Amino acid sequence: MGSVVRGRAVPGLRADAPPTPVGIDGMVFGGDYNPEQWPEHVWLEDVELMRRAGVNLVSVGIHSWALLEPRPGEHDFGWLDRLLDLLNGAGIGANLATPTVAPPAWLYRAHPDVRPVDHNGVVLELGSRATFCPSAPAYRAAALGITTALAERYAEHPALAMWHVHNEYGAPVGSCYCPESAAAFRRWLRRRHGDLATLNSAWGTTFWGQRYGEWEEVEPPRTSGTTVNPAQRLDFLRFCSDELLDCFRAERDVLHERSPGVPVTTNFMTTNCKSIDYWRWASEVDVVANDHYLTAEADRNHVDLAMSADLTRSVAGGRPWMLMEHSTSAVNWQPRNVAKRPGEMVRNSVTHVARGADAVMFFQWRASRFGAEKFHSAMLPHSGTRSRVWHDVVRLGGHLAGLEELRGSLVLADVAVLWDWESWWALELDWRPSSELDYRDRVGAFYELLWDAHLTVDFVRPGTGLDGYPLVVVPSLYLTTPAAAAVLTEYVRGGGTLVVSYFSGIVDANDTVHPGPFPGALREVLGVEVEEVLPLRAGERVLLDGGAHADTWAEEVLLTGAESVVRYVDGPSAGGPAVTRHRFGAGIAWYVSTRMDTAALGPVLHDACVDAGIDPRVDLPADVEVVRRAGADAEYLFVVNHNDHAVRVDARGTELLSGRTCGPDLLVAPGGVAVVRVT
Ligand code: GAL
Repeated sequence: MGSVVRGRAVPGLRADAPPTPVGIDGMVFGGDYNPEQWPEHVWLEDVELMRRAGVNLVSVGIHSWALLEPRPGEHDFGWLDRLLDLLNGAGIGANLATPTVAPPAWLYRAHPDVRPVDHNGVVLELGSRATFCPSAPAYRAAALGITTALAERYAEHPALAMWHVHNEYGAPVGSCYCPESAAAFRRWLRRRHGDLATLNSAWGTTFWGQRYGEWEEVEPPRTSGTTVNPAQRLDFLRFCSDELLDCFRAERDVLHERSPGVPVTTNFMTTNCKSIDYWRWASEVDVVANDHYLTAEADRNHVDLAMSADLTRSVAGGRPWMLMEHSTSAVNWQPRNVAKRPGEMVRNSVTHVARGADAVMFFQWRASRFGAEKFHSAMLPHSGTRSRVWHDVVRLGGHLAGLEELRGSLVLADVAVLWDWESWWALELDWRPSSELDYRDRVGAFYELLWDAHLTVDFVRPGTGLDGYPLVVVPSLYLTTPAAAAVLTEYVRGGGTLVVSYFSGIVDANDTVHPGPFPGALREVLGVEVEEVLPLRAGERVLLDGGAHADTWAEEVLLTGAESVVRYVDGPSAGGPAVTRHRFGAGIAWYVSTRMDTAALGPVLHDACVDAGIDPRVDLPADVEVVRRAGADAEYLFVVNHNDHAVRVDARGTELLSGRTCGPDLLVAPGGVAVVRVT
């Protein structure tokens, strides 16, 4: 799959990927708006200030079920009518939510079985939100009831720009183990495996005598005496993601039917919600939307932000997407909620846009005075319109308005990284050779190096085409199906360059080890066999030749075609290969058998880039993000400067959209951003 934009290949672009059909002109700017927390006279001020900031879309009604349906079947739409009319009068669109993430108290009272049950049998009670059993018939029926009522009432309302179904499916509760969920799990298993004999074989139930004779004996993987069958747990994780997807689909279908032509979405959390397989969800929404919050205290958290944006664009099939939520400054749910420094919010926003977002939205418009989130930042903070945050919000609105022509343009990526929720789940189940195996850690390490090398990453689902990418990186893909392995093998045979990190290719989709030595499904392409995996003790480090160190993991690697590039100097596999390189067909496959930190991994990735024919971007300063988007008529360059000094970037042949030029160079202020049109 792939496409060509202005003469350049856009390899990640999926032909069936949804475009951004948001019912708003230009770049979208706005946030969650919770006017029900305020008297109506405040709404007038809100709307006036929204206009001043250039807000053109607000998400409303996300948690309003109890207000909209105070008693079963009894609706109170008056306040929402007045609100939507007010927004419409101000030319602001509504991203109208179905409020099904926050069921009303009466539903819990009438149907206690809507409460979810955790794996220990603990019933989770009303008092927060997102606390429901997705398989409970009473929840499903009530959710469709309020969705239908909203669709019927507002389908024709001129403020309605799009539908926001639910909120962040899968978080904070992504699973339920109640009897109703158990029955739904069994139905799901019948569809996946067909008959019980196949299930028994897929789950390897001859182990520990788990063999089932009747479907009714099959249960969710509740807490047991010791670790529960990993194949059963893996299937349950798949089921939980699918069961929530079913809830989404049901609401979406009602909206499509009663409100035709209005796009429907739900907000993802691509890098932060482990319980949802967004590869399976992305094609179900009309436009992909994502929420991202910085880990305030993390070093270089802007790299994690870039990764989230790239992953979001990738699940969107390369099409533009919406940043549905981020924060203007601090959040309120981390141990220490560090405020954003001047310029940081704009850099964050522009990075999302550089990587494909056509919308920049926040949680939330006006800071709440009560409830759990009153210390969360907002577009309009408690300190009001005198605050720096407010001024930055207004400036950002102006900035985005100047980027209107960018809407719909596509990001031009350089390399691919494989990403897989199923493999993430499987790798981190219990009783792996080391509890320190960490999927996000390995993806993050490779991503950070590619970011430092100024290379833009597309994430790719295992098993899908890799044509057009000179380099493909596979961080710890523990679960590798034969089909995914075949794609990687053919990619290298055909001339591609592949980099694979340790403990990849180990099991199939049922968590069953591929026959023969590790790395199982990837043995042929990598030209190595692993005689034994050698997890390291906590804190233990091994020395590699060249002076670099590694930790967590080592392997006894035998060369069956590959050459050794880096060797272990000490540790349990002293003298053996640590990093190998295999010429295979017309391409080259690298294998990294240990956990190298980024300083050690950098030179390896550099050499792989040379193999792949990727020119190092030595012209670009460190800690400066440079990303390209291409539209039908023009190409755009985004420069985000993360340094505390100004940087110059070659800007010959470009026209400034935002930023400062300086002769043939673009001068980007300390912590500043610039966007240019390439002429
Ligand atoms: C999001 C959520 C919002 C708000 C926000 C605070 O995950 O969707 O409703 O709670 O976090 O950071």
